[in-house]
Amino acid sequence: MENVVKIGLLGAGTIGGSVIEVLKNNRDTITQRANTEIQIKNILVLPHEIPKLHEAGLPATSSYDEILNDPEIKIVVELIGGIKPAKDFILQAMAHGKNVVTANKDVVAQFGHELFDAADANKIDFLFEAAVGGAIPIIMPLKRSLTANKITEVLGIVNGTTNYMLTKMGEDGTDYETVLKEAQACGYAEANPAADVEGKDAARKIAILASIAFNSRVKFEDVSMEGITHITPEDISYAKELGYVVKLLAVARHSELGIDVRVNPVFLAKEHPLAAVSGVFNAIFVRGYPIEEAMFFGPGAGKPTASAVVSDIIEIVRGLNRGSTGRFGCTCYHQFPICPVEETVSSYYIRLLVDDKPGVLGKIATTFGNVDVSLKSVVQTRTELEDHVEIVVITHKVKHKNILAAQTALKVLSVVDEIFNVIRVE
Ligand code: HSE
Repeated sequence: MENVVKIGLLGAGTIGGSVIEVLKNNRDTITQRANTEIQIKNILVLPHEIPKLHEAGLPATSSYDEILNDPEIKIVVELIGGIKPAKDFILQAMAHGKNVVTANKDVVAQFGHELFDAADANKIDFLFEAAVGGAIPIIMPLKRSLTANKITEVLGIVNGTTNYMLTKMGEDGTDYETVLKEAQACGYAEANPAADVEGKDAARKIAILASIAFNSRVKFEDVSMEGITHITPEDISYAKELGYVVKLLAVARHSELGIDVRVNPVFLAKEHPLAAVSGVFNAIFVRGYPIEEAMFFGPGAGKPTASAVVSDIIEIVRGLNRGSTGRFGCTCYHQFPICPVEETVSSYYIRLLVDDKPGVLGKIATTFGNVDVSLKSVVQTRTELEDHVEIVVITHKVKHKNILAAQTALKVLSVVDEIFNVIRVE
């Protein structure tokens, strides 16, 4: 057994700072659980950040070589984020025989295969529990505790920013632009919120989860994406009336057509366990045999994420003590096709503005029928507009390509003035 294992941290931002605190505040428990003391040997930061760390009594450097060439450092903890230079830093650490922990969903979702190959070649551990769902344990449960299962579905609310925004819009009818400004003021949304509101952040996370759940590599670019920028308080209010909540859902399903993997806003039935997940919280819902259903819930970002990072470090230290690092390698031994989004199946909510005159509903129902879209309900709603009426259509389950065809046909129908929104129903 090693009495002390030394680690190198890359980055001392929100998560890095929290990792430093947790290693200090929980030192005794961590030492007992790892059967070893875990020490931070060096921290890579920008040159101007060094004095602040030194003042706090912490080691710091702006030269990555110092960490790479330090034989005492057995674990590199990458908390810089993004692709460059993080990916190269990870590969270099592995090439130097160092185990790697990361919270970086971008590199895992885009370059997972390359990173796992490098980890295997160097017989080291590459752990990334914090990359999906922040502090929520989901990677190790999928890779270890659920391996007896045949998993058919993984659904996630994996972006706290958009979940906060949709929750606020639902609570008080605030519009998208206002709620985005509020979220930015509270620090929940970034100054450039594109990755969150356009679904890219969630797409990276579901690519990682799908790869592990179905043992088949799913990359970020395989995920079909739709964000929340077009969601209005009206849609959210209709959802409520009809027994749903609006959520940005990350979906991964495995069927005979391949893997259906996408991020899109949905009308989610109020009874679904994920419907209760509000604010900045995240949750991942897993369906499989024999587990049936399980849900993992918790804080998806920020300081609590150190829980996942430090637990990964402890896991590696245990491995080092038993001479058994490198056990959790790549698990993608299948190559299932990705189901084209046009072939995916859902019910849909469609909100339209139409002329208020006899025969209009008939024409609309016929238009849907002509492209094989069967309607479950048509609700005539707000009539306060002169000569126009808003209607809400809920379809039975249909292929996405039929909904696209319906939209094309409705657009040229003279009685249809506007198609406000089309949202999947789960
Ligand atoms: N921006 C992400 C979110 C957190 O809003 O959940 C980091 O993945």
